[in-house]
Amino acid sequence: MGENAIDQELHHSNDALEQLATVTRLRCVECASLYPGVSEQPRYRCDCGGVLDVEAEVRYPSPHETVIQNETRDSTTSANDVSFIADTRWQRLFDERASQSLVQPNRGEEQLLDSSGVWRYRELILPVPEYYIVTRPEGNTGLYSVGRENCDKHHNGHSSLGHYAELDTFYLKHEGENPTGSFKDRGMTVGVTMANLLGARAVACASTGNTSASLASYAAQLGLPCIVFLPATNVAAGKLAQSLAYGAITVRIDGDFDDAMRLVEQVCNELGIYLLNSLNPFRIEGQKAIALELLQQLDWEAPDWLILPAGNLGNTSAIGKAFRQALQLGLTHRMPRIASIQAAGANPFYRSYRHGFRHREQVYAQTVATAIKIGDPVSYARARQVIEQTNGVVEEVTDEEILEAKAVIDRAGIGCEPASAATLAGARKLVQKGIIKHNDMVAGILTGNLLKDTHTGIPEFKQDTAIGANIESVRTYLAGTLSF
Ligand code: F0G
Repeated sequence: MGENAIDQELHHSNDALEQLATVTRLRCVECASLYPGVSEQPRYRCDCGGVLDVEAEVRYPSPHETVIQNETRDSTTSANDVSFIADTRWQRLFDERASQSLVQPNRGEEQLLDSSGVWRYRELILPVPEYYIVTRPEGNTGLYSVGRENCDKHHNGHSSLGHYAELDTFYLKHEGENPTGSFKDRGMTVGVTMANLLGARAVACASTGNTSASLASYAAQLGLPCIVFLPATNVAAGKLAQSLAYGAITVRIDGDFDDAMRLVEQVCNELGIYLLNSLNPFRIEGQKAIALELLQQLDWEAPDWLILPAGNLGNTSAIGKAFRQALQLGLTHRMPRIASIQAAGANPFYRSYRHGFRHREQVYAQTVATAIKIGDPVSYARARQVIEQTNGVVEEVTDEEILEAKAVIDRAGIGCEPASAATLAGARKLVQKGIIKHNDMVAGILTGNLLKDTHTGIPEFKQDTAIGANIESVRTYLAGTLSF
């Protein structure tokens, strides 16, 4: 690129940053202090140590109509507080964008954004010029009807999930169908877009595997150096393979995820590398799109319950925030109750919830669900607000319950990685406890793809020797299994 072109690009990016700065700010979740939305030195925490939340003006994309979202007005919104403003403009806008074909040749930039399950909702995600957006595109993940009564008759196998959880109306949204196989892509398209806009020279994260796979892919797409810090053990092989294949500098540290997380924050601050864990509040903005897309798939009707696995708590925070915004904008008319499910061996949030969040618990984490093997979640304060504001609950499930639920999901032909199965195990437990009613409308999130971890909870291949390539050998082999 010639010097003139570089100058011009810098000029554009300064304009875009200035524009973004006028409509966004960061608020501390602990003490409510305010900071600029963008600054020369990226800020991930308040001076008090608290995590930050993006507050942004939401503008309807017509020069004459402006809706300003008032973040504080509804900060006490409870599950029963229906502050519904009849306004179908947003629904119509997003429905029109979603109707764009995904496979049109030579699409313009705008159509590319409309076909992303994140940027389709761009006014609620991040007001940046399209030029800077780094998208695969992501989202557009399947929503499976798996309840005892709402299961499509052509998918009878899926109803085993509804029977297992004892739920009549049950949906599972499979975020493992994202480009790198987990929900992380939704936050990462926004995080890497911010890195692009800020002119970051490198990006980094700590990860139990999925965040790193996602960051490695998006950074590679932009051609940006990427460093990922992983625990020395317990990273599923598929996830490690992704980060290596996408070309990330992959560092295994002598410690667990919590150690890696502390280290990467220090590394990024001291070496001037852009941090892309969900400590970065712009990641949370992208992950909100899971809830927005779910609502759109449900024709903008919010479920009674939204259930998801919980580790570092970024996703609980994002989904709660999205529903709050959707309610404020009249995109939907009620707030679901949010149920965050932790593995019993990695349950600091559950322990804090049990005593009414009187203080923040930490544990040394141990579970087969390695994605959520986290003992000191970064987004604790954000997620606590979500549970309190949605009249939500936090539940724990044992490794045995996770593996049993995973087998049910896998055998239904849907499949997921172990951490994701906490959703089904949690649903079943909350129904058995009478907290969720059999006829409540329930939506659960499956967070990661089956292929991420092809060892944990997968039946062993029992056949020792190959059989002859002839019909008689097959007959003998199948005898007793199938009768034709
Ligand atoms: N499910 C999967 C498959 C995950 O990878 C994670 C987190 C979670 C659930 C929990 O989400 O952290 O937002 O509460 N994985 C992170 C990672 C920690 O590094 O990939 P959370």
